[in-house]
Amino acid sequence: GQADIGVIGMGTMGANLALNIAEKGFKVAVQNRTPAKAFALKDDNPELADNILPAETLEDFVKSLNTPRRVIFMVPAGQPVDDEMDKIRPLLEDGDVMIDAGNADFNDTVRRAKTVEGTGLKFIGMGVSGGELGARHGPSIMVGGDKDTYPLVEPVLTKIAARFHDAPCVAWLGTDGAGHFVKTIHNGIEYADMQMIAEIYGVMRDGLKLEPAKMAAIFRDWNSRELSSYLIEITAVNLDETDPQTGKPMVEVIIDEAGQKGTGRWAVIEAQKLGVGATTLEAAVAARGLSSRREEREHAAGLYAGVEAGQSQFFADEAGFSELESALVTAKIIAYAQGYAAMAAASDENGWDLPLGTIAEIWRAGCIIRSHFLDDIAKAYDKGQKVVNILQAPDFVGRVAKGQSALRRVVAKAALAGIPVPALSAALAYFDDYRRARGTANLTQAQRDLFGAHTFRRFDADGAVHHKWPAV
Ligand code: 6PG
Repeated sequence: GQADIGVIGMGTMGANLALNIAEKGFKVAVQNRTPAKAFALKDDNPELADNILPAETLEDFVKSLNTPRRVIFMVPAGQPVDDEMDKIRPLLEDGDVMIDAGNADFNDTVRRAKTVEGTGLKFIGMGVSGGELGARHGPSIMVGGDKDTYPLVEPVLTKIAARFHDAPCVAWLGTDGAGHFVKTIHNGIEYADMQMIAEIYGVMRDGLKLEPAKMAAIFRDWNSRELSSYLIEITAVNLDETDPQTGKPMVEVIIDEAGQKGTGRWAVIEAQKLGVGATTLEAAVAARGLSSRREEREHAAGLYAGVEAGQSQFFADEAGFSELESALVTAKIIAYAQGYAAMAAASDENGWDLPLGTIAEIWRAGCIIRSHFLDDIAKAYDKGQKVVNILQAPDFVGRVAKGQSALRRVVAKAALAGIPVPALSAALAYFDDYRRARGTANLTQAQRDLFGAHTFRRFDADGAVHHKWPAV
């Protein structure tokens, strides 16, 4: 064979990844269930044609690869990955590497890694973020698998990944499902980021009655400071766009029902399993779910039409905008702290030893949540000291202490005006709970002991005890 690496699946992501690989000077074999698509990739990209080797059959594809063979699957997550693996395995030899680059459930990746163990074949599960453009020009790549398998794919991945200054946004993060787990949390954070931006948009629309073009200007302004990020940048573009058909702002002709493919939900489910409440992420997933029940919401709006919320106390002036900005920054720190806490817990649970600082580093470019802020997180982990939680890292303590009052005011004003801000509220509630040395679980324990003799522990003695409560 003569190809350095192969890609199976010529959907948008697979085709763009293959072009990226070809452009970086590697020869890439390409294959697709309908072979015409693989040949079309070569024909449609004459400048890269020398590096694109389309194959008619899986056998031809395998033959065209250098050994050890490196095969990237870019097919829909779930059964299609297992199907492709089953088809190709008999054609591969000892030392060959299968790489699942889709948005896999990390539990599947752990399972697939096990099925390959001891067979001589190798398996890598890697998260690829950055959408279509990222795949084409430089995604952020989160790799999981055996540490000694990584060098087999590292030269290609390092070349095709996004760059933050000179550093490629790719790293080996841990064994088996580590890469896909981190990608899942990335998506959960992506949901939270997007939801919090949408909530601020809701305040601007319903509380301040601003026109989208004005909102766009505000988001553009924010993009020059702490919030500077891809998602804020695209928000300004979204809000500035005019619908060519009606001449209305584009956002106003778009139905308010959010889609979701499941990765954000996985992040929340996994966090729950680990006993880490990623409540801001959870609020974002729940908000997408409720958004899709539009008819039901419209009916409820009618039922409660007479219910008076208070007057909006939001102000459309510099101080008012700056309060919203500060609230969003603060809630964002809290959301990331939750995502990071889930990764820290998963790392312990799965024995991954996830490099949390490195994860922030490879998220600084290429991926959907790329931002200046991630550089701050990278720096917080870079200082050599152990970071128990982002909310305890010195730089962030100062920022949250300063920003919390703005978050508090925005959440309170939104509540009074009847404007839902579920993710911002969740962030605030979590923060207040997190920094409360003495909580209220003592009462929960008392109740559990009363109705189920579940026992509790006392401040003034060791061990679990049961109290004889009065009969009810
Ligand atoms: C990325 C994204 C991507 C995801 C889309 C859509 O990192 O490039 O996370 O992987 O598929 O953002 O996700 P939803 O359809 O669930 O919104």
